[in-house]
Amino acid sequence: MAQLIDGKAIAAAIRTETAAESAAFRSAGVTPKLAVILVGDDPASGQYVRNKEKACAEAGIVSETIRLPGSSDTAALLDRIRLLNEDPAVHGLLVQVPLPKQIDEAAVLLAVSPEKDVDCFHPLNVGRLIAGFDADSFVPCTPAGIVEMLMRSGNPPAGKRVVIVGRSAIVGKPLALLLMGKGPSADATVTVCHTRTPDLAVFTRTADILVAAAGRPEMIRGDMVRSGAVVIDVGTNRVPDPTGAKPYRWVGDVCFDEVFPKASHISPVPGGVGPMTIAMLLRNTLTACRRHERSRST
Ligand code: GUN
Repeated sequence: MAQLIDGKAIAAAIRTETAAESAAFRSAGVTPKLAVILVGDDPASGQYVRNKEKACAEAGIVSETIRLPGSSDTAALLDRIRLLNEDPAVHGLLVQVPLPKQIDEAAVLLAVSPEKDVDCFHPLNVGRLIAGFDADSFVPCTPAGIVEMLMRSGNPPAGKRVVIVGRSAIVGKPLALLLMGKGPSADATVTVCHTRTPDLAVFTRTADILVAAAGRPEMIRGDMVRSGAVVIDVGTNRVPDPTGAKPYRWVGDVCFDEVFPKASHISPVPGGVGPMTIAMLLRNTLTACRRHERSRST
C-alpha cells in the first residue's frame, strides 16, 4: 500500500519560505507583483487562476488578473502584453494556456518579456534550461514542483529509472531536461513515452519513478506499474461524477484505486502536483523581482 505524497503540505512549506523572502523585499520598499492574463472561460484555467490569486495573497505577492473575453483576437492580447511588459511595477507575467483557437499561441508566448516569463515558456528561457542553469534562471513550474516533491518526500531521482508518459512543452519535455541534468536532484536515467508509444506498459513497468502527464483520465492502470514504484500524477481531468452527487469530479492520469496498492508512494489528484506548480510560480516571481532590482542598481 502506498504512502501519499502530500503536495498540499509540501507546497505550504515552500510558500512559507517564499513569504519570508517576499517580506524582505517589502521591507526594502519593493512589492513583488505577478500579472496573469486569462482569456475565455476554460474551467481548469479558471480554477488554476483562483488558486494562484489565493497563493499570492498568502505569500505577500500582489496579483492582478486580467480577464479577456474568449472572442479576443491575437492583436488585442499582444497589446495587453506590451503594456504589462513595460510596467515596472509588474515583475512576473504569464498568459494562461490553453488559449482560444483563433489566437496565435506561439506569437503570444514569444511576446512575453523573457525577464518576466515566470512560466519559463519563452524560447529564450527554454534555451537556458537546455544549456544549463545559472542561479537566477526561471525554472519550469510543474517540472520543478515535481522535482521538489520527489526530494522532499525522500525519493531523490538520482540513479533512478524515470519514465515520463507525456511529451508536452509544459511538463514532459522540460521535466526530462531537469531530471537528466547533473546534481543530487537530477542524475536520473529518463525515458519519455507518450500516447502513441506502442507497448506503453513495457516501458512504464521499468520505472522506479513513473510520471503520468499525458492528459488522459486514468490511463495508467495497476498492471502498468512495477510493485514499489513512486508514482507522480500530473493529470487534471474533469470528468462526469459517476455517483451523480456533483456535476463533475477531478481525476488524474492514474487510476488511483488500482495503482495505490502497488506503488510505494503516490501523489493524489487533487492535492498533489497542482499546489506544487503554484508554489514554484511564486518562487519564480521572486526570482524576477530579484533580477529586476539587480538590473536597476547596475
Ligand atoms: N495551464 C496549465 N498549467 C499552466 C501553467 O502552469 N501556466 C500557464 N500559463 N498555463 C497553464
